[in-house]
Amino acid sequence: MSKTREDFSKANMSEHTPSEVIYQIYPASFFDSNSDGHGDLQGIIEKLGYIKTLGVDSIWISPFFLSPSGPEGDGGYAVTDYRAVDPKFGTMQDFKDLLNKAHENGLRVYTDFVLAHTAKDHDWFKKSRNREESYEDHYVWHDGKYDENGNNIPPNNWKSVFGGRAWSWDDTREQWYMHHFMPSQPALNNNLEKVQDKVLAEMKFWLDMGVDGFRLDALPFTNYDSDFRDNPWLDGQWPRDDERWDDQYFAHSICQPQTIEFIKRIKGLMDSYPNKKTTLGEAISGPEGGRNSVPVAASYVCENNGLDMCYTEALMSIREYPDQPRVKGMIEYIESHFPKGGNCNAASNHDIPRSGSRMTNHMSEEHKDKINRQLITLFVTLPGSFCMYQGEELGLEDASIPDDIPLDKIKDAVAWSKGLEHCRDGARTPMPWESGQNHTGFTSSDDPYLPVPQKHIDNAVDMQEKDPNSILNFTRKLITWRKNQPALIKGWTETLNTPAPVLAFLRKSKEQTMLCLYNMGEQEHRFKPADHLSEEEMKELGYNTDTVITLDAFDSVMKDINPPVERPSEAKNQLVL
Ligand code: NOJ
Repeated sequence: MSKTREDFSKANMSEHTPSEVIYQIYPASFFDSNSDGHGDLQGIIEKLGYIKTLGVDSIWISPFFLSPSGPEGDGGYAVTDYRAVDPKFGTMQDFKDLLNKAHENGLRVYTDFVLAHTAKDHDWFKKSRNREESYEDHYVWHDGKYDENGNNIPPNNWKSVFGGRAWSWDDTREQWYMHHFMPSQPALNNNLEKVQDKVLAEMKFWLDMGVDGFRLDALPFTNYDSDFRDNPWLDGQWPRDDERWDDQYFAHSICQPQTIEFIKRIKGLMDSYPNKKTTLGEAISGPEGGRNSVPVAASYVCENNGLDMCYTEALMSIREYPDQPRVKGMIEYIESHFPKGGNCNAASNHDIPRSGSRMTNHMSEEHKDKINRQLITLFVTLPGSFCMYQGEELGLEDASIPDDIPLDKIKDAVAWSKGLEHCRDGARTPMPWESGQNHTGFTSSDDPYLPVPQKHIDNAVDMQEKDPNSILNFTRKLITWRKNQPALIKGWTETLNTPAPVLAFLRKSKEQTMLCLYNMGEQEHRFKPADHLSEEEMKELGYNTDTVITLDAFDSVMKDINPPVERPSEAKNQLVL
C-alpha cells in the first residue's frame, strides 16, 4: 500500500543535517595558471574569488596526486603516491597555499580520496607483486582455475566496471590480480585491517595538513567476498560472457558488510580531530549496478558511526528531463532511506554527461534555459546537500564527439576500454572564462587539456557577469538565498499528491515552512492550495479556499511561512523563478 502524506510526515519529523552546497572542481580543466595547457592548483587559487561569489560552502577537488599519464591514470583516479602532488598540477606548497587561501575565503576544502585501489606503479603494488614481506597480500591476488582445455583462467566471473573481466594476469608474480576499473588500478585488499591501517595513515597525512574532509571514491568497491564466489546473473542465465557490466547481481564482488566496519574506522579517525572533518561518500553502485544504490548509500550514512553524507546515482542517473512522478517518487525514496539527512544530491559530475544537455536534449530550444534554472532551483530546495559540478552554474552543455572533441584529443580511459559512447570527456572540457580570449581564457597555451567547444563561448563567465539575468547570477542569488532558509537547510520534507506535471512539496523546520511548487511541463497549470494543504497550513501561508496559483511552463514558485528573510515588497513571501 502506498504511503499517505501523514505516514511520510511522521517518519520524517526530525531535522536533517548536514546541508551544504559543495562545488566540485575537476582541476585539469578548471584554470591553467602556468600556460602549459593543463589546469593546476595555482589556477584554482586564482579563481577562489569567483568560487566565493557563488555562495558555496565548500569545494571538492578531484584528484591531483601523482598518477600515471595517459588513460592508465584514469584522470587521477589511479594514484601512484597519495602524499605527492602530480607536477602537472603544481607542488605541495601550492596545495598548502590553496588550503590557506580557501580558508581565508570561508571555504572548506575536501580532497578526493581513492581508497579502493591504487595505480599499478604505486610502491605497494610493486612490493606486492614481488611478494615482499608484509606487502604480499596488500592486493587481491589469486591463482585462478583451469578450464576444460587446461587453460588457467580467472577464479570467478567478476566483471570490471570499465569493461571485460575484473581480473588481469601478472607475469611477475604469475597470479591474477583483481581490479574493478582499469587493469592499471589494482584493488587494495581492504579486507585486511593492516591494509586499512595503511590507507588511514594516508588520510591522516592530509587531515594533519588541515584539509576539512574527503570525498571518498568508489566506496562499495572497497571490500570483496573472501571466498571469491561467482556473482549470479541478473536474468538467471549462467554462464555468459558478454561485455555489459550491469547484467550481474554483484552479490560478492562489491557492497560487502566489511565496508561498514571500514567506514567506522574512517569515522573514528575523522572524529579524533578537534575541528569538524567531513566525509562525503561516493556510493553510486548497489548490488544491481546503479539501480539500487540508495539503500547502500544510506547504510553508509545511517549506521552508527557512519559518514556525514553520501551521494548516489538516484538523480544523476536520470538521463532526460525528469517527469513529475519520477522526481516525486525519488524524493520519497531518498527521504525514507535518510530519515535524519545525509544524502547529497548531484545533477552531474565528471563521470556523466552534463545535466545541461542530458536533461534538455529532447526539449524545444525555447524552454531549455528555463529548464536548466528549474533544475538548479530543484536541487537547491531538495532535502540534503547539493554538489554542483563546475560549469553547471553556467548552464554548459556536454561537448560532443567528434564535433567538439576530435578523436585524437580524447583523454578518457573509458573511451578506450569500453567504447566512444561511454567517453566522459564531454563533461571535462575547460571552463570558459573569457569569451574573447583563445580557449576562452582557460590557458594561453596552444594545446589545452581538451578543446573548448565553440558553443561554450557564449556561456563564458565574463559574458554572464555582465548580464544580471544570466544563469550564473541566478544561481548565485539562489544559493545565497538558501543560506537563510532554515526549512531548506535542516527541514524535513512532505511531498503533496498533485497531478503531474506539477511537483509540490513542503519543507519544514521549527522556524519555517516552505511550499515548493514546480511545473515540470510545457503547458500552464493551476495549483489550488485548498486541495492539498491543511486548514492550518493554508492560514499560515495566507491562502484562502479560493486561492489558485498559476504556474507557467517550467515555473518554480516557493512560498514560505515565517520567512526569516525580508522579501522585496512586490514578491511578499513568494518567490517566483
Ligand atoms: C569514481 C570516479 O568518479 C571515476 O572518475 C573513476 O573512474 C572511478 N571512481 C574509479 O576510481
